[in-house]
Amino acid sequence: MPVRATIVSLGMVTAAVPVILVSLLARRTRGLASDEVAEISFKEDLNRSLARGLLSILPLETIRRFFKARPVKSIMMSRRFKPFMDQLFIRVNSETCNGYWICKGPPGKPLVPKESDVVLLWFHGGGYCFGDPLRPAVNLLRVAEIAAARGISMSIFSVEYTLAPAATFPSQQREAVAAYQYFLKDEGIPADKIIMGGESAGAHLLLSCLMGPPDSLPRPKGALLLYPWVNLTNHSPTFESNQHKDVLSKRLLDRCVERAIGERGRVDALNLENLLKQWKPGTEKTWKGILPAYTWVHVGSHDVFLHDVTTFVENARKDGARVDLDIADKRPHAWNFAVDRDWVDLYCGLRPRTLVPVGMMPGSAAIAEGFFRVFHQGM
Ligand SMILES: *[C@@H]1O[C@H](CO)[C@@H](O)[C@H](O)[C@H]1NC(C)=O
Ligand SMILES: *[C@@H]1O[C@H](CO)[C@@H](O)[C@H](O)[C@H]1NC(C)=O
Repeated sequence: MPVRATIVSLGMVTAAVPVILVSLLARRTRGLASDEVAEISFKEDLNRSLARGLLSILPLETIRRFFKARPVKSIMMSRRFKPFMDQLFIRVNSETCNGYWICKGPPGKPLVPKESDVVLLWFHGGGYCFGDPLRPAVNLLRVAEIAAARGISMSIFSVEYTLAPAATFPSQQREAVAAYQYFLKDEGIPADKIIMGGESAGAHLLLSCLMGPPDSLPRPKGALLLYPWVNLTNHSPTFESNQHKDVLSKRLLDRCVERAIGERGRVDALNLENLLKQWKPGTEKTWKGILPAYTWVHVGSHDVFLHDVTTFVENARKDGARVDLDIADKRPHAWNFAVDRDWVDLYCGLRPRTLVPVGMMPGSAAIAEGFFRVFHQGM
């Protein structure tokens, strides 16, 4: 990072932290009987307030650097994964598809992807402005292990797409469609073996991708949406009611939208409802026609997206799509990844193939449960 930018960012952090602390204390003293205080411990509130406050003010470039993936080398060289290192994180850099095979078959049981029981195509989050296809790598490896333990062999590919401002929407939609076509055609994976998964903006991209392909492209087997960013207006009632509970802020999200659509863009261009309408003029697509046979959606009750996600699920069901929604009590945005962060070193230090203690990597375990729902089509 350039020295000047570092100094500016450090200065901003130093100036902001006391302000965040004072307003946190004031809010908690004022609201001693309120549900916020009852619902969130002080430590947790402090964590979320700092995250929210700093993400609101720091330049997006700084956030992008901060949100880089944990070096994959440390995972590859860890006790648990070192024996399989030549099977993990395999880069694909083709004309139509970029990203990484996180694993081809479960760690230690390599397979050609099209021969595994299922291929999970992952779209990472980060507001179209940050994030990295390898950032959820450890969590996804854990999901593959849990699936293998239940007799399902899984290959996982994490898609790399161009972030704003280097590219603005809808070029990410085109990249996602091209990637999906690559798996169907070049890798020869049948659509009914593909499950698409995405978090936050990645879930928005996943939905845009499903809206993008011409009708002749087959639907995947299912979709898994974690805290999907479905309405980029960032203006629903839970933006207000969860403003002190979540790690996200309207300010951060609005900045991301501005950058994702670029100078000449309009927020309409990112609006899924408008994408629905514009795809085939006159013949408005419905969610039933867009979503796969089964979709599982997950969001925390403290997420600012809660209301928009609930509305999306209601609309999709009205259209006749099969969608299940699980709301995690008192969880903020991206909680699965946050709760696992403290476990990663312990987990990677376990011997290969040994049982993972109950309670370790709980966020990934919750993603795996969602995956099973999709794999078994909601049964
Ligand atoms: C607060 O964040 C730190 C750093 O991510 C983490 O180690 C700690 O467990 C968090 N505390 C709570 C209560 O979530
Ligand atoms: C998106 O949010 C805005 C503001 O809350 C709302 O007016 C609009 O109806 C929402 N769109 C959908 C599709 O729910």
